[in-house]
Amino acid sequence: MVDFTLTDEQKDLRELAHNFAEREIRPVAWDYDRDGTWPQAIIEKAWEVGLMNTHVAEAYGGPGLDYLSGCLIEEEMGWGCSGIGTSLMANGLAAAPVSLGGSEEVKKRYLGMLCEEPKLASFCLTEPDAGSDVSGMKTTAVRRGDKYVINGSKCFITNGGYADWYTVYAKTDKDAGHRGISAFVVPRDASVIVDKKEDKMGQRASNTATITFNDTEIPAENLLGEENHGFKLAMMTLDRTRPGVAAMAVGIARAAFEFASEYSKERVQFGVPIAMHQAVAFMIADMATKVEASRLLVWQSAVQLDEGIRNTLASSHAKRFSADSAMEVTVDAVQVYGGYGFIKEYPVEKLMRDAKIMQLYEGTSQIQRLVIAREVLMGRDISEPQPELTTKETEVAVAQSETAAATA
Ligand code: CAA
Repeated sequence: MVDFTLTDEQKDLRELAHNFAEREIRPVAWDYDRDGTWPQAIIEKAWEVGLMNTHVAEAYGGPGLDYLSGCLIEEEMGWGCSGIGTSLMANGLAAAPVSLGGSEEVKKRYLGMLCEEPKLASFCLTEPDAGSDVSGMKTTAVRRGDKYVINGSKCFITNGGYADWYTVYAKTDKDAGHRGISAFVVPRDASVIVDKKEDKMGQRASNTATITFNDTEIPAENLLGEENHGFKLAMMTLDRTRPGVAAMAVGIARAAFEFASEYSKERVQFGVPIAMHQAVAFMIADMATKVEASRLLVWQSAVQLDEGIRNTLASSHAKRFSADSAMEVTVDAVQVYGGYGFIKEYPVEKLMRDAKIMQLYEGTSQIQRLVIAREVLMGRDISEPQPELTTKETEVAVAQSETAAATA
């Protein structure tokens, strides 16, 4: 049986997130977008009311929420302002590989840090020459005694300029393609260089930076999982975070749909509100369908995760469809506003600019199609369990934890 009923806790959480978006985010969103203002005060308030680090387990100070609850929050943040929402939610992307592959010691220290204070972490995968093609990365990590030495540069790093630590992917075997990548936690104070803040088309309140490692030394126990198994960790992470990104796209589309619907009822042309013209009414109808269908895919991909089912396909369906729909809905919202839609004084041009990144980050719409094509063509059983780290990978994490405890 299919049941879309939210629990009382989930309804309360959605209301909390909506009220926060309405009262704390919406009133400043357009000013923050214009000026590219870093939303520090909003981050602190969101942390205070429990809207950040939602999936960090209770053992490390987080609320350990289910993924569907996380998506409910992310939709509201996207509705409020996806630039500010991205700043609030990026910790989840950095924290997921730590939750999956970190030793007890590393989890306590770095996940704990995010829950003790409103601190930030960034996920460093992309490089100037390695975007969709993750295996093409050039950053290296070389083991020297009880340390790894990291060299290289990562670009388009969300919250990079403000993060206290980074989840960094680097080649530990340059000749092994995707099987030569490892993941590490790199603290900011390990001589990390923040090179550049990008001046972006949309989501202008979020910080996007270049991060460089120049003989950056980190303790060997900061390796996440097993050496050379970082690619799998990255893919497992993206399976967990793409539903949330897709939910944020639903929020953008919903906001555009609401603005366009209201405007179409007020704006009079040819003697009647433009909503009375079928050409406009059908655009509104298509917007509504796209929002509903996107949300259903998001919820499916999150519920599969919560039930321990492999959600790679559902996650890419949700990300691809929600991102493309957000773009289409926001473009149509501008169309409904006519010439006014092109003017910054009206709300929808910001949404159109913000929507564009949804088709690009955390895997482009083309990469989602590539994943979908592979998954449907290989005919994978949709009830297959969510992949886990191998026994060896888990043993390595436990051994690291014990070594760290012994030397503490
Ligand atoms: N879960 C677990 N393992 C997986 C997996 C998954 N979902 N997907 C693939 N794997 C495993 C495969 O089983 C395979 O394992 P073996 O080594 O045992 O063979 C291995 O990973 C390689 O898989 P592929 O052959 O499918 O790898 P590929 O090189 O063809 O790449 C890809 C696949 C889908 C294109 C992948 O590279 C990809 O997702 N690229 C996009 C990257 C991306 O999303 N970047 C965004 C960065 S985050 C961001 O945007 C920053 C921000 O701040 C918002």
